[in-house]
Amino acid sequence: MRQGFYQLRRSVWLSFVITSLLTASAFSAQEAKKEHDPPVPLAWLTTEEKARFDAGRRLFEFPFTAKEGLGPVFNGRTCEACHHIPTIGGSGPGYRGNIRYILPSSGTTQGTLFHDKSIAQGPADVLPENAILSKRRPSTLMGLGLIEAIPEEAILAHADPDDKDRDGIRGRPAMKEGRLMRFGSQSHVATLFEFVADALRQEMGMTSPMPGFNTETASIDFPRFVKNPIPEPNVSVDVVNKLLDFVSLLAPPERDSFNLGGGQVIRGEKLFSQIACAKCHVPSFHTGAAPYARAPQATAMSVALLNRDIRPYSDFLLHDMGATLNDGVSLGVSKPGEYRTPPLWGLRFRLHQLLHDSRGSNPEQAIVYHGGEAARSRNAFLALPAEDRQAVIEFLRTL
Ligand code: HEC
Ligand code: HEC
Repeated sequence: MRQGFYQLRRSVWLSFVITSLLTASAFSAQEAKKEHDPPVPLAWLTTEEKARFDAGRRLFEFPFTAKEGLGPVFNGRTCEACHHIPTIGGSGPGYRGNIRYILPSSGTTQGTLFHDKSIAQGPADVLPENAILSKRRPSTLMGLGLIEAIPEEAILAHADPDDKDRDGIRGRPAMKEGRLMRFGSQSHVATLFEFVADALRQEMGMTSPMPGFNTETASIDFPRFVKNPIPEPNVSVDVVNKLLDFVSLLAPPERDSFNLGGGQVIRGEKLFSQIACAKCHVPSFHTGAAPYARAPQATAMSVALLNRDIRPYSDFLLHDMGATLNDGVSLGVSKPGEYRTPPLWGLRFRLHQLLHDSRGSNPEQAIVYHGGEAARSRNAFLALPAEDRQAVIEFLRTL
């Protein structure tokens, strides 16, 4: 009797355990999709800077709602949603590609950001039928603080807008009001402080106090109760600065040390230089000795960013990349078809999502799409014996 009771109890208990295991594993599989690997801060931070990095990280992962000022239109509730590969603060998944668009009748090629979500029931932005679209891939934020710390003169030293050396490669600095703009796929933003404030406003509809970032972006006229659940500006400068601290103190992606020493890889990097890839994808820079002057409201640059040798593989200049990559849309002072050389560090984490609109699904394809100023270099790559082409690719895969 007792034994029967225990047996019953046992089987009930077992089935309970099994069911909860099953639901638990289904649950954790779902959760696992959302759990991204932790971000990696720079190695040389002070305790205080590490605390600022952590506070910024919490905001970077925080799912904003209308109560904090999200919307009325937006593309993501967290920064992390578009920046988490291979770790939080990295690049974005393919389905998170943003869309910039223009209307042929508008007389401008400046792309407007499309918003696919809204806090109200019903539509966010509506894409006009004849809109010209340009997809933009979320880039990695790893190492951006170091990129901001490169002295302007060091970048300008690579510019050759009139092609004086007659190698077909120009490199035009994106200058606006006397400042070099180095961030974004078409170099349309000068500083990380501005990029962060812009991301808050554009991607999340959250306004902040600085001029230019203190008005909503919604193109639809929402009812008042939807538009203004909390007063403008939605967030303080402190929120922008915390996010700035997080982004600018992220460590750059490290090389794949496992495959670094291979003969193929070393030969590949030599060839990369010989066929002029390195003219635009400039391997190394030395960051400045003095902090770069950010906006007056922004936190000062950490000394951990100064006097460092870095290997981003970019010249941070605009290049005319030819007709195939030209989708008709421009940002900032760029012309349609001009793109900023993307840093190649961390390339191995986005091998199937290459170029500004992710159209390159492997490095070979990305190279074949190069045209315009890069046509000669591309042709030189295609003319290499198969073994040498493979060496270049092996090298790229270690970045
Ligand atoms: C819906 C997707 C999305 C969300 C959400 C998002 N971003 Fe981005 N982010 C992008 C895309 C796309 C780009 C590339 C823009 C371009 O092509 O110039 C980008 C680029 C950036 C850059 C510049 C990178 C560079 O290479 O120069 C910074 C900095 C940045 N984002 C910060 C943030 C911060 C901070 C947040 C949260 C407030 C955020 N992003 C939220 C999609 C997103
Ligand atoms: C004239 C300058 C220039 C030269 C020369 C050049 N590139 Fe590029 N490269 C660019 C620009 C600009 C882009 C971005 C184009 C875009 O986003 O549409 C790019 C993108 C790439 C990408 C994709 C990176 C990413 O994150 O999406 C790879 C890989 C690449 N180049 C490799 C090479 C190799 C290998 C060579 C030599 C055969 C080379 N490039 C020569 C300017 C250049």
